[in-house]
Amino acid sequence: MSELDEFDDLGLKLRSDTVLFARIILGFNPFPYQEKFLKDESKCVVACFGRQTGKTTVVAVRAVHFAFTNAEAVVLVVSPSLRQSMIMFERICRFIESNPYTAKSVRRKTCTVVELRNGSRIIALPCAAHRLRGFTAHMVIVDEAAFVPDEVVTEILNPMLAATDGVLILAGTPWGRNYFYKAFTDPDFSVHKVKSSECPLISEEFLRKQRECMTAEAYAREYEAEFVEETQSYFSQNLVQRCLAPELQLYDERDVLTSQTILEGEYYMGVDLGKLQDYSAAAIIEKKQNGTLELKLLKEFPLNTPYLTVSGWILQAYKTFRFKQVLIDQSGVGEPFLEILKD
Ligand SMILES: Nc1ncnc2c1ncn2[C@@H]1O[C@H](COP(=O)(O)OP(=O)(O)OP(=O)(O)O)[C@@H](O)[C@H]1O
Ligand SMILES: [Mg+2]
Repeated sequence: MSELDEFDDLGLKLRSDTVLFARIILGFNPFPYQEKFLKDESKCVVACFGRQTGKTTVVAVRAVHFAFTNAEAVVLVVSPSLRQSMIMFERICRFIESNPYTAKSVRRKTCTVVELRNGSRIIALPCAAHRLRGFTAHMVIVDEAAFVPDEVVTEILNPMLAATDGVLILAGTPWGRNYFYKAFTDPDFSVHKVKSSECPLISEEFLRKQRECMTAEAYAREYEAEFVEETQSYFSQNLVQRCLAPELQLYDERDVLTSQTILEGEYYMGVDLGKLQDYSAAAIIEKKQNGTLELKLLKEFPLNTPYLTVSGWILQAYKTFRFKQVLIDQSGVGEPFLEILKD
């Protein structure tokens, strides 16, 4: 049974036309490249888009449409971390809840699973092998696919689709030469490549400023969706990939910074101060007894946050984490900022 049967003739159209479904049922007007992606009925699809072009959003639309138009279907949403899968999952749920008709089709919902009256389920998972094994799926969606280890796709995700002749969608921005790259160059995949400049929400001015403050390679990768080798970065792409921990649970600052408790452990903080067009950010890291370093909290301040607010946040964080060291990027405003902090 399709959840759209009660729409009669229109239901039939909505079933076969993802773009119409997006517009009428979800109130989502795709950009031209998103429309092209939504219309793609291939079994293996790559959405290699620049940053902030609407990858997660448009793939969420595909997931909702698929679950509503197929009975007893399993749609798996997989990302390098549970946090990233949850971003996609929340967008999926927001779409479903945006229309009373789709909202009432929800039979059961937990924080990682939504099940519809037609028996279809959308499930969000991190790319941890032990969490993924055992599923059979009709659609597998991998967001931030360039950061998912090759063997997770080849040994775990691909076999899930074998018996169902299901759909595999790999979405992301390039990074390294891994499975995402192989799929991008594989004629069996239908490939969509989109530069950030094609997104009507991103201004030329923004891109010009980004180009000024990034290496040419990083810009080509992040905003032009090019698979470039990184020659100037301090850490190799390979190393970054090996450091990903799919099930890492970060602290929620609202819980830890207001609790008035001092956390046990050896903590360090790194701070990068943003200017007008990039973000100030802070990362809190714990050094474990076995010597490994684990990210515990990541804070990105909204653009234009005054440095006084950033320093206030650091002091607040100090009360909880009692850092062994706080490291602040000294270039740009770092020096005067340190003076504020010392005061
Ligand atoms: N067709 C659209 N119309 C209006 N807004 C859109 C559309 N598509 C995406 N957006 C908005 O653009 C922003 C970026 O979308 P999204 O997070 O899906 O992009 P992304 O490519 O996944 O970003 P990232 O590179 O950070 O992962 C969001 O605020 C989203 O709501
Ligand atoms: Mg995204």
